[in-house]
Amino acid sequence: MQLPAGITEIPLGENGLRGLKVDTPLCSALLSFQGAHLLQFQTTDKVPLLWLSEDAIFKAGKSARGGIPLCFPWFGTPADKDKPAHGFARHRLWTLTAARRDGDIVTLELELTDDADTRKLWPHAFRARQTLVLGRNITLTLTVENRDKTPFTFTFAQHSYFPTSDILRTRVEGLEGRPYFDATQDWKILESEADGIRFSAETDRVYEGAGGHYHIVDEAAGHTIVIRSDDCKSAIVWNPWTEKSARMGDMGTDGWRGMLCVESGNTGSDAITLAAGEQRAFTLRLGNG
Ligand code: BG6
Repeated sequence: MQLPAGITEIPLGENGLRGLKVDTPLCSALLSFQGAHLLQFQTTDKVPLLWLSEDAIFKAGKSARGGIPLCFPWFGTPADKDKPAHGFARHRLWTLTAARRDGDIVTLELELTDDADTRKLWPHAFRARQTLVLGRNITLTLTVENRDKTPFTFTFAQHSYFPTSDILRTRVEGLEGRPYFDATQDWKILESEADGIRFSAETDRVYEGAGGHYHIVDEAAGHTIVIRSDDCKSAIVWNPWTEKSARMGDMGTDGWRGMLCVESGNTGSDAITLAAGEQRAFTLRLGNG
């Protein structure tokens, strides 16, 4: 495919992965074809909007730690241990189907369809399209089409990693007083703080029916990140803290202190069912406030 000015295909790491580098007067970005995974995004006048670990591993079948991996067709860890956590989409090579530039706005479209390997893990015919519009903000649209003869149900999350100058001075707004499942306490149902979420230990929360509009307030930098989606009803708030980070091995030195995930998707009771032939789009907007 002929790529417009400002979009270049490049190798990622030393293990044969490839992706796209975007440089326009509005932003610079890095995308991996594996997982249709946006790894980096930065507007030319602001701080980076996404966090990417200094120890991220670029390898086939391993999701690089940071950016926005896509969890699909399921979010979380299935009971069947032979199935990968967060689905297979983030480990698969997606096909670039469009790369456009309208003025300084770049649009990239990537697709993933079922094959013998995906059907072993999830026995459905589907097409997933990830559309990324990169300008002063990020607009991500996941479109899922049921190409089967019967309905199917899936869950997903745009697993966004955000930077913060100090997690100890970071607040998430938009989930006040809402119930959540706490993965660090055996999925106990608890109620969110009335004055925003603050972080002082490993945090791993799943909110269903959460509303889709959140702010991350970086109090140390006086900076806010804005997350908006009317289509993604679930939110996942995660920071692995010290011990889990050490076990993970790709979080970088003290990486936990400078990041958090506020993921947007539909999981649990927000799972999506598509009839045969039906398709549905889920849009998420991320920007600096
Ligand atoms: C989050 C989960 O969405 O993803 C956490 O809530 C999990 O439990 C984290 O640890 C990272 O998952 P992975 O598979 O990318 O290491």
